[in-house]
Amino acid sequence: MAQTIAVIRGDGIGPEIMDATLRVLDALDVGLACEFVDAGLAAHAKTGELLPQATLDAIARHRVALKGPLTTPVGEGFSSINVELRKRFDLYANVRPAISFPGTRARYENIDLVTVRENTEGAYIGEGQALSADGQTATLTQKITRRGSERIVRYAFELARTAGRRKVTVVHKANILKSTSGLFLKVAREVASDYPDIETHEMIVDNCCMQLVMNPWQFDVIVTTNLFGDILSDLCAGLVGGLGLAPGANIGSEAAIFEAVHGSAPDIAGRGIANPCALLLGAAQMLDHLGHVPAAQRLRAAIRGAIADKDRVTPDLGGSGSTEGFADAIVARL
Ligand SMILES: NC(=O)c1ccc[n+]([C@@H]2O[C@H](COP(=O)([O-])OP(=O)(O)OC[C@H]3O[C@@H](n4cnc5c(N)ncnc54)[C@H](O)[C@@H]3O)[C@@H](O)[C@H]2O)c1
Repeated sequence: MAQTIAVIRGDGIGPEIMDATLRVLDALDVGLACEFVDAGLAAHAKTGELLPQATLDAIARHRVALKGPLTTPVGEGFSSINVELRKRFDLYANVRPAISFPGTRARYENIDLVTVRENTEGAYIGEGQALSADGQTATLTQKITRRGSERIVRYAFELARTAGRRKVTVVHKANILKSTSGLFLKVAREVASDYPDIETHEMIVDNCCMQLVMNPWQFDVIVTTNLFGDILSDLCAGLVGGLGLAPGANIGSEAAIFEAVHGSAPDIAGRGIANPCALLLGAAQMLDHLGHVPAAQRLRAAIRGAIADKDRVTPDLGGSGSTEGFADAIVARL
């Protein structure tokens, strides 16, 4: 039976890169059916809502969604539709692979690492933000829980095991943030003891930034708290050529949403020159998640081959190609 996924085409360049991505997925022929639903500006134009209930219902029903970038209008409702989706479905694991592709602006060759970021707690969610009446003092509550730490670290070790990776680096700042980062590290050590087959390393976050720039090959899976993961995963995207090649998955126990890390790129929307690779790599993560691992590998190999063809790649990769032409080149390599 075909697996149905919820598809949100998104705003700006979203529809262009989603159409290209769905065409490539069709060519892979893994038996996926799509239910199209809206969020963001497209939803607002049709229904007056940024995140309609029908969209939430479709994600809950199919448990898997592929999402184009969304524009959150400034000053309306949510601070971010993406953050709202993470909250609604308790998507606790943000999984961001960083793979270097030859022929791109990647700073290093042969990088293949993945950052697993806790997505639901810590400083990043901005709990208890306040500014004193005199405007002189700002405060924020940073809450880390045993449950939140345990499930994200376990997710990282399970990912390492199933993906045949060897090593997990736990990134923290427990030397200074003794309560919050301290609890995360303590729980991480407990969880690590259940995985004697996987090497565990611990690294303080500032050192980790330097080590990623100096010697990125030492990393395999990185697991860390929300704010550190937000920063480190963009650093990793920079190592491998920028956001045009950076996919991300938001995974919970009830649903998973796969996406490109970049936004809706209003400056190039409608011109047919957006790079579809980040969303395609997000689709590859989705295929892994659905158990279509060989198809995901074929897709990554086809992307790798197509990137090498400078005539076909989009301008952000130094070519003069179009979104559609790039997708054609990938399909031809499948
Ligand atoms: N996941 C998401 O849905 C998501 C993520 C980030 C930003 N946004 C939203 O996107 C909108 C625009 O944000 P922004 O301009 O800060 O960031 P952006 O990522 O949309 O664009 C930054 C720059 O990168 C370029 N770019 C991005 N994706 C590209 C692609 N696939 N191919 C070629 N070039 C690409 C753009 O042209 C632009 O010059 C905002 O409304 C923001 O809220 C959404």
